[in-house]
Amino acid sequence: MKVIRSIFQMQEERIEIKKKNLSIGFVPTMGYLHEGHLSLIKKSKEENDITIVSIFVNPTQFGPSEDFNKYPRDEKRDLQKCEENSCDIVFLPKKNEMYPQYFFTFVEVEKLGEKLCGKSRPTHFRGVTTVLTKLFHIIRPDRAYFGQKDAQQLLIVKKMVEDLNMEIEIIGCPIIREEDGLAISSRNVYLKENERKDAILLYQSLKQAEELIKKGEKDPLRIKEEMKKIILSGKNNQIDYIEFVDTKTLDPVSKIKGETLIAIAVKTGTTRLIDNIIVKE
Ligand code: PAJ
Repeated sequence: MKVIRSIFQMQEERIEIKKKNLSIGFVPTMGYLHEGHLSLIKKSKEENDITIVSIFVNPTQFGPSEDFNKYPRDEKRDLQKCEENSCDIVFLPKKNEMYPQYFFTFVEVEKLGEKLCGKSRPTHFRGVTTVLTKLFHIIRPDRAYFGQKDAQQLLIVKKMVEDLNMEIEIIGCPIIREEDGLAISSRNVYLKENERKDAILLYQSLKQAEELIKKGEKDPLRIKEEMKKIILSGKNNQIDYIEFVDTKTLDPVSKIKGETLIAIAVKTGTTRLIDNIIVKE
């Protein structure tokens, strides 16, 4: 496994790979790797000759009062996990090389980036799309792998690639959960023991929504009330949003019809957690 830290070296390496006509699968991450990330790596390995993982805690996607400095990092453990999972290349660019002193260019997907998480994190998605544009240009993968865990991110990246004619196939992968249903996230390490119990309620509320819809309920407002009750039964939980939206536009739906994304964001203690499911009528 090659560990590459400079953009130039990564580009040189990519040229060599392309000369051999090998396909590249790319898994962008912010590190502190867990089973969710590893599922993306496995999928990339199945579908490509070469798998490249990037580890970069991207400063432009964190708001001024967010957790950029304290975001969990463990490079040694991450490299070990990449090695164990037979990654070919790990790219760990430096912050100053990705964002030198005079950096003025941003990529923004309008509308979609303003909804759901965009309301409380107004500059988040433009940070994500900017760093991904840079990484896509440096690596030029054939396919890139993203988790459905970050449903809005996945949709925005697909839209960016379509709108800007980037020749990359974006592949969405299922949410990996702990045994008790909690969606695995690097931020779960922030949760204290009593908060961890309340965090499970996010998934339980989504399952309850699914159950009600199966029984014929079609009114998002009524389902939302039931979900609220479940989530707020955990005293550390504070709801940011529970939204029922169209899977393509992220516009709110007034009735469950066809495919609907139920997306939630909750602060459990001081940790912001997100989760979602897609339900069908
Ligand atoms: P990060 O949070 O490290 O996540 C990297 C990828 O792993 C994302 O595509 C995310 O959706 C996926 N992922 C995280 N938890 C998952 C889970 N439980 N099941 C399945 N997939 C999961 O998302 C980012 O980093 C950044 O925004 C990034 C795209 C790297 C841009 O900086």
